Amino acid sequence: MPIATPLTSLLGIRHPILLAPMDMLAGARLTMAVSDAGGFGILGGGYGDRGWLEQETAKLRSFRSPFGIGFITWSLARRADLLDIALAARPRAIMLSFGDPAPFAPIRDAGARLICQVQSEDMAKQALDAGADILIAQGTEAGGHGASRTTIDIVPAIVDLAAGRVPVVAAGGIADGRGLAAMMMLGASGVLLGTRFYASVEADGAEEAKRRICAAKSGETVRGILFDLSRNNVWPAPYTGRCLVNDHARRWMGREVELLQQVNAVAADYAAAKAAGNFDVAAVIAGEAVGLIHDIPPAAEIVERIVTEADQILLGRRNSAIAAQA
Ligand SMILES: Cc1cc2nc3c(=O)[nH]c(=O)nc-3n(C[C@H](O)[C@H](O)[C@H](O)COP(=O)(O)O)c2cc1C
Repeated sequence: MPIATPLTSLLGIRHPILLAPMDMLAGARLTMAVSDAGGFGILGGGYGDRGWLEQETAKLRSFRSPFGIGFITWSLARRADLLDIALAARPRAIMLSFGDPAPFAPIRDAGARLICQVQSEDMAKQALDAGADILIAQGTEAGGHGASRTTIDIVPAIVDLAAGRVPVVAAGGIADGRGLAAMMMLGASGVLLGTRFYASVEADGAEEAKRRICAAKSGETVRGILFDLSRNNVWPAPYTGRCLVNDHARRWMGREVELLQQVNAVAADYAAAKAAGNFDVAAVIAGEAVGLIHDIPPAAEIVERIVTEADQILLGRRNSAIAAQA
């Protein structure tokens, strides 16, 4: 059964499930798989690699289902030309995360919806002022970059602030139908999933990284600046990154100042480990949902499972309410 919400009507999709624009892991193949399954695939434009973006958007030119393209806002601000490449692929929406979306009005002028991922009420107000059509409320459980507030705190706060003007989507720690149903109870119109789709057949990630996500238990991720320091990629405040705990994290956690004193040597070792696919050192970017993820199915199966489970939970609630009234 499709679960209809203001989000599904706005984007013209069957299921209220969005693929997070995971930098380069969410290529055209995964984007199309999620959209073909009735969700909304969002290509991971990330920091903005022009060659990669041209190559992946070319594959989407003749794709008929609705899809989006996502960027890291502060990085796009330095490479604004990339927006033209993205808009030329005629996405139904552009998603911006991490920074002020105000300079990107051409997105809406070009007929695409503007989706903004936010981590606080102030950021949500800024996004609404910039004309956001959809807000993603991201909790600290999320894989990758984010901030400190929990999903159960930030989602209803942003739902209240939006006050029905735009749909609010929940992100951070959601990987199954229970998560979708719970977020709808909090007033969300849908969910955005990163880590769950990383462990899918179509994600452009290393098989070893996917295997580690399946093997990780709940609580085996860490949020901080350790991995950004190690790859010489320092983000503006208040953003930190969440990854699986590995040998490198165990070695340096709590010793970031010491790491900074020898950052060039650490960064060289880190880059070599990354190139060699050594995930004892290189980060597997993943969120707290890892404890719920045990397999690597096709993306369509993930969408189907989540919708079926959420529908059963929501139907069960409706039936109990009717029985209680009778
Ligand atoms: C591997 C990975 C890469 C990510 N890269 C990006 C990115 O490039 N841009 C972005 O806006 N968000 C990125 N995110 C964060 C997602 O937008 C989203 O907030 C997060 O995945 C939701 O939490 P979850 O991982 O628990 O599903 C990434 C997340 C993961 C797991």
